[in-house]
Amino acid sequence: MHYPVLCAEALAYLAVRPEGIYLDATTGLGGHTREIAARLTTGLVIANDRDRESLEFARANTLEFADRIRFCQGTFSELKEAMRAQGIENVNGLLADLGVSRYQLTEAHRGFSILADGPIDMRMDQSQRVTAGDLVNSAAEKAIADWIYQLGEERRARKIARAIVRARPLRSTLHLAGVVERAVPRTGRLHPATRTFMALRMAVNDEPGELDRLLAMAPGLVAPGGRIVIISFMSLEDRKVKEHFRDLGRKGRAEVLTKRPITPSEKEVDDNPPSRSAKLRAVEMK
Ligand SMILES: C[S@@+](CC[C@H](N)C(=O)[O-])C[C@H]1O[C@@H](n2cnc3c(N)ncnc32)[C@H](O)[C@@H]1O
Repeated sequence: MHYPVLCAEALAYLAVRPEGIYLDATTGLGGHTREIAARLTTGLVIANDRDRESLEFARANTLEFADRIRFCQGTFSELKEAMRAQGIENVNGLLADLGVSRYQLTEAHRGFSILADGPIDMRMDQSQRVTAGDLVNSAAEKAIADWIYQLGEERRARKIARAIVRARPLRSTLHLAGVVERAVPRTGRLHPATRTFMALRMAVNDEPGELDRLLAMAPGLVAPGGRIVIISFMSLEDRKVKEHFRDLGRKGRAEVLTKRPITPSEKEVDDNPPSRSAKLRAVEMK
């Protein structure tokens, strides 16, 4: 079962119009794309993702609306070109549901999983050259510690980085998870390697840089009166989105529609526990 996170809320903030043109920058398995497409008549959704495998699932999950969806593979940085290729200058709404999908996280061969053994890969776009395995096996100890500290918000980053470098070569996700687990004891509910895996995933996919580029570019992609809706799962990301939207508001370029972030209902969290940390923010361009 696939649950698009904060789906009703995302659609309400996008204010989908039947004849509108929408850009789903992170189509993933097509959950939000499908719901947007279902509300269109003459309108169109551009469904983008950097992950080719996910796009195949999205295509299969949205077949009944195929005439209203154009798929494209690329990063946030390439969205402008993707729109141009469709002959589209701007859209009535842009949605970005950041991070990775359940599918990417749980499929062992994609190498994101702490629980299922696989190569230490973690690339969203599998044509990218550098994998997370390259990072743990060749980067400097200090760089690894900085990623784990800054991106994973893990206080024990230095200890973990030292253990990783000593255990080289790291061969698989379970090998890496075990090395981290032996270096730092479990303190709570989370597996001790959770934050390390998250940090490596963010580093190898340059997620902070991609979010910066998305935020810089989005206002230029959305027509006046159109909406930008962003769902994030990490405080680092939510902070960036909040500050950027506040800035657009101050400059008179957009109206901030969410004074506070919108979060999932208790029911949604019960039905889909990974949604618990989701935060949605939206602006309307002037
Ligand atoms: C949380 S999932 C989206 C799930 C989707 N909304 C759904 O309902 O199925 C995030 C997706 O964004 C993609 N993604 C993350 N960063 C990206 C980037 N910089 N450029 C393009 N796609 C990206 C990932 O590959 C992943 O499929």
